[in-house]
Amino acid sequence: MQDSNRVLIFDTTLRDGEQSPGISLNTVEKLEIAQQLARLGVDVIEAGFPITSHGDAEAVKAISEQVEGPIIAALARTHSADIETAWEAVRGSERPRIHTFISTSDIHIAHQLQMTREDVLGQARAAVAHARGLCDDVEFSPMDATRADLEFTAEVCAAAIEEGATTINVPDTVGYTTPDEFAAYLARLYQLTPGLDRVTLSVHCHNDLGLAVANSLAGISAGARQIECAINGIGERAGNAALEEVVMLLKTRADACGGLYTACNSEEIAKTSRLVSRLTGYAVQPNKAVVGRNAFAHESGIHQDGVLKERTTYEIMDARSIGLDTNSLVLGKHSGRHALADALSQLGYEVEGSALNQAFKRFKELADRKKVVTAMDLEALVTDEIRHDESGYSVESFSATTSSESKPEATVSIKLPDGSVAEGSSAGDGTVDAVFQAIANAAGIEPKLREFRVDAVTAGEDALGETSVVLDLAGFSGAGQAVSTDVVEAAAKAYVRALSNAVRRSNAPNTTDAGVTP
Ligand code: KIV
Ligand code: ZN
Repeated sequence: MQDSNRVLIFDTTLRDGEQSPGISLNTVEKLEIAQQLARLGVDVIEAGFPITSHGDAEAVKAISEQVEGPIIAALARTHSADIETAWEAVRGSERPRIHTFISTSDIHIAHQLQMTREDVLGQARAAVAHARGLCDDVEFSPMDATRADLEFTAEVCAAAIEEGATTINVPDTVGYTTPDEFAAYLARLYQLTPGLDRVTLSVHCHNDLGLAVANSLAGISAGARQIECAINGIGERAGNAALEEVVMLLKTRADACGGLYTACNSEEIAKTSRLVSRLTGYAVQPNKAVVGRNAFAHESGIHQDGVLKERTTYEIMDARSIGLDTNSLVLGKHSGRHALADALSQLGYEVEGSALNQAFKRFKELADRKKVVTAMDLEALVTDEIRHDESGYSVESFSATTSSESKPEATVSIKLPDGSVAEGSSAGDGTVDAVFQAIANAAGIEPKLREFRVDAVTAGEDALGETSVVLDLAGFSGAGQAVSTDVVEAAAKAYVRALSNAVRRSNAPNTTDAGVTP
């Protein structure tokens, strides 16, 4: 029997989060994030929306079979095929869940679904019954509930409960509601929905007006015991409630939250945030609550003075409680393979055999250029190795020349997905532009560059450069990231990874860009 003060954390980084424009994680990357979410101690991982693509179904299946601890959920519309595909993907989990949804707002019913309310009621009922025939744990969401007729939403939720739904999730799909309004909405939903007090009530809030966390808090004050959220707040449009903010709010202000708590291990937050940012290519804004790089920085003299005298003068959380690595010096130039394996293991990465050899080679190259190699550097190198994708495009070699008289020129040699090697060259407006165009020429593809960003992994002149590229290929986006001490090399690697993802998505029979998205 669940403690009535415990709030379940339902993480949707890999589903709603992955629907953010430009994010396209492959199975290995999704698995890595899911393993880290399990270490963070989330209660539910929504691993994907299997009907949308073969790749998504494969990733959900891999996560279900390999990640232990959390419930693994898969999203499904009310169609039979969606429910069966979701079940096939999660059935290998020790704790599978099917999450099915249909809109209850008239605006969605009329314009998107082109149905009647009766159709919606019937489809919700049939879908939950179908899902319950397959799986004991079924969540139902009346999408766009906060803009829907409350009486009708209650009727649909009651039908879902009658058919065996174990969680009812109320989405504020377009981030429209306000905390007071949402609390009143849920209070009334409890009154109108027979059986709602016997299942778990959940909330799923989007951040279009910056209220996702505030609305989630209002939700649990009104009786919800599950919050759907995503690391770094990623998700459709302005994103979802940020998991780290929800967890630290309940931890830091338990007094103001009626003693409600989560079972998350907050010391894994900083690491999870960095991993998600790195693999998705979505940078965390510097002043982002909890995980922004300035969240524990003090600029003004008065604040610095206060914190030096007593940390709590200007800090409401201890950086260590989110696992921020304050003592980040890990290895030096003379550290050996064993020390590296130990350091990686402390960071949560068990690396051995050829992977350790490769990590050691990269560590040595880095240590030759950098005086100290920090935990952040090692993490960046390891996640860069995770991204390496044998089945896509990769850079074999490149060279670039610059002169004051003419445009920079680049020549590249790349490996194609079929294993053959192709060469290309081009001039460009800058060195990076020349390299990008040379790769496109070698691949014989003309993608559109939507985004290119360079960040530094740590402070200092000798920092590793981290690059992020988003490409558009006939309406299909692909993102790629890479790190290297040489920014042009990192840019070239990020570009081929983005190209691999965009090509893969454009070749998939059914994908999130062109197909179904909630
Ligand atoms: O925002 C939304 O309504 C959703 C549902 C699928 C829960 O993501
Ligand atoms: Zn959503």
